[in-house]
Amino acid sequence: MANPSILILPGDGIGPEVMAEVKKIISWYGDKRELAFDVSEDLVGGAAYDVHGVPLADETMAKAQEVDAVLLGAVGGPKYDVLDFSVKPERGLLRLRKEMDLFANLRPAQCFDALADFSSLKKDVVAGLDIMIVRELTSGVYFGTPRGIFEENGERYGVNTQRYTESEIERVARSAFELAKRRGNKVCSMEKANVMESGILWREVVQRVHDEEYPEVELSHMYADNGAMQLVRWPKQFDVIVTDNLFGDILSDCAAMLTGSLGMLPSASLGAPMENGRPKAMYEPVHGSAPDIAGQGKANPIACILSFAMALRYSFDQGDEATRLEQAIEKVLADGVRTADLMGPEGGTPVSTAEMGDKIIAALDASL
Ligand code: NAD
Ligand code: IPM
Ligand code: MN
Repeated sequence: MANPSILILPGDGIGPEVMAEVKKIISWYGDKRELAFDVSEDLVGGAAYDVHGVPLADETMAKAQEVDAVLLGAVGGPKYDVLDFSVKPERGLLRLRKEMDLFANLRPAQCFDALADFSSLKKDVVAGLDIMIVRELTSGVYFGTPRGIFEENGERYGVNTQRYTESEIERVARSAFELAKRRGNKVCSMEKANVMESGILWREVVQRVHDEEYPEVELSHMYADNGAMQLVRWPKQFDVIVTDNLFGDILSDCAAMLTGSLGMLPSASLGAPMENGRPKAMYEPVHGSAPDIAGQGKANPIACILSFAMALRYSFDQGDEATRLEQAIEKVLADGVRTADLMGPEGGTPVSTAEMGDKIIAALDASL
């Protein structure tokens, strides 16, 4: 049987730096676990614009549709701020999500014990935390029309449209309930049904999917602004959170700080099952291209490496190997190995991006 295929899109800024460490890990699995992947690599974001004049070439889009999984680093950067909106690096990422129809973006926020002291919140608030944000990824205000900048009475105005169909809400709700059944059996749905019609529909449809298909799962509803506050006040009240595209973007960055750093948060963007039964999938860290630290070897590669662990679990049916990788990361953190973003007053061993990758490889070796 052919090896599973992976398309790597490192992107911009720290994207290629963190992805270099993932490539080492992929090679390790081929060498040491007889788990070989057919890996190809291509351009996305500003890197693609520099070569093709667009942030995602059609050929790259076609390749992404064919592989078993896409791994994406990050896109964007100040160099591209001047570009027309239609060719900005971020449009490349959004095109991948939309055309692959990756409607469920799983953003787990787990606090590793070794970092419980490091969060900006008190240790007992975050220690042992394990929540999963399910962000709708292909609709909502990111894609709704009409949109644009228009002019009226000599003045310009900007328009974006929050739009959700019932079936879009249903399918992401099902993803959340299915995940909850394998975790803590609890879903909290977040919207603003108090001010938005799309929120009213969201709440109604999530409740219906629950009542008809998942009555055994505990469901609650929360306004998203309260949800942001509750995430910081007592995040352990949550198991799975399901929310729309924009609220999910913001709430997941907020959840990052529960884990200690944005450099720790992975994600899986999943679509409908393909012929082989696995979901169409792209794995991407939650963080961006971090222009402020790019090119300095300071980036934390763990979010990107944990995203590959999610690929092992959700695309390659290698849950045990995903756990092995997560435990290797846990071990390295417990040993006090720290990239700059994780350096607190308690100290630790400061390492570069590449050294962090090497330490994780050493921990993987030690796990055999
Ligand atoms: P960002 O996530 O790039 O950075 C926010 C802060 O977190 C910065 O201080 C950065 O140094 C730090 N940070 C992020 N990742 C880190 C890591 N792995 N290790 C250590 N520190 C890390 O967000 P931003 O600054 O708002 O955006 C910069 C660019 O990235 C923009 O062009 C934005 O559109 C883009 N972006 C892309 C993605 C993506 O590709 N998925 C996500 C978010 C932002
Ligand atoms: C993310 C990012 C993206 C988003 C941008 C870069 C398009 O912030 O993946 O969280 O807003 O979805
Ligand atoms: Mn974001």
